[in-house]
Amino acid sequence: MQSLASKLVPEAVQKLIPYQSARRLGGSGHLWLNANELESCYQYGDLSKGSNDHYNRYPDFLPHDTAQAYLNYCEQKTGKLDCEIVTLRGADEAIDLLVRTFCKPGDDQIIICPPTYGMYEFCADSFAVNTCKIPLLESFQLDVAQIKEQLPSSTLLFLCSPNNPTGNSINEIDIIDLLEASKDSTLVVIDEAYIEFSKHNSALHLMNKYPHLIVIRTLSKAFGLAAIRCGFLLANVSVMSYVKRLVAPYPIADPSAEIALKALSEAGLKTMLKQTTDLIEVRDWFGLQLQKLSTIKYIYSSETNFILIKFNTTTSPYDYLVSQGIIARNQAHEAVLNDCVRITIGSKESMIETLNALKNLN
Ligand SMILES: Cc1ncc(COP(=O)(O)O)c(C=O)c1O
Repeated sequence: MQSLASKLVPEAVQKLIPYQSARRLGGSGHLWLNANELESCYQYGDLSKGSNDHYNRYPDFLPHDTAQAYLNYCEQKTGKLDCEIVTLRGADEAIDLLVRTFCKPGDDQIIICPPTYGMYEFCADSFAVNTCKIPLLESFQLDVAQIKEQLPSSTLLFLCSPNNPTGNSINEIDIIDLLEASKDSTLVVIDEAYIEFSKHNSALHLMNKYPHLIVIRTLSKAFGLAAIRCGFLLANVSVMSYVKRLVAPYPIADPSAEIALKALSEAGLKTMLKQTTDLIEVRDWFGLQLQKLSTIKYIYSSETNFILIKFNTTTSPYDYLVSQGIIARNQAHEAVLNDCVRITIGSKESMIETLNALKNLN
């Protein structure tokens, strides 16, 4: 039976022969003279002391060890997953690749549910793909009925759970409802960048039943490794066969792959879990303290490493924080969040300083 991915993929991608980089072609031999690399290894200070020894060679086409380590981390919670995984330059590259792989510029449409992460629409815009916006309900949950109406004419549905900037998780019952409704029409992408901070299940366990579900993850948030640009795309073999046609020849630099592998080791995971628990404690403490301030109208509950706050001030709370040297994220551009500010949870000291500053806001 033809998979949904092969039904949706534009003809140009269907016909595309992946770029045959030297590493992708592989081979066995003792002299590697096929990639125009330098054979000699210059020493730049202590730069070449990593486990990789030297950086004169191109990296793996896709670093298999890192991907496998991340899959193992996922499967510790879900059990065996019937999917493939690729390591990419952050979750952002995964979003971009999905749009470029499955959408035909000028023709196709994606669905997003604002307020949500801005890159879905940006990637669609940059590729002349239409974005259909079905706003979240007042509860910040999905308007399932409206989304269902758009499914037959949409290639990708982007969901973000927990959602940025609202901070809440999407109800699993709605996700399942949409997965059932989209089986023949739309690939469902769930961006789980903040999943480690959530008390709810990841959607990964649904992948075995719904092969048109795609999950995006990252090391930028709970793992604290935004600088190495490392994210993951998990999808069924058919989706992945097309994504891999478009992926850059060498997306992941060796130093990034090495750091990611350390973070995904047993010790690395332990550290990440401990830091996540600590951060959640600071987040919940900060939220409780904020409730005591009269300038704050509402604090949205958060399953992320940030808190969305609605203010009832006459002046801009964002500008006030800037004047205090505290850079938060203004939400004034979102009609339903125009008096809101999103504050990332930092160290306890940073949150005490922010709290003290907010006490003087009026
Ligand atoms: C929901 C969401 N997805 C993806 C990203 C980007 O992640 P990465 O750093 O892995 O590209 C962000 C960054 O803020 C985000 O909020």
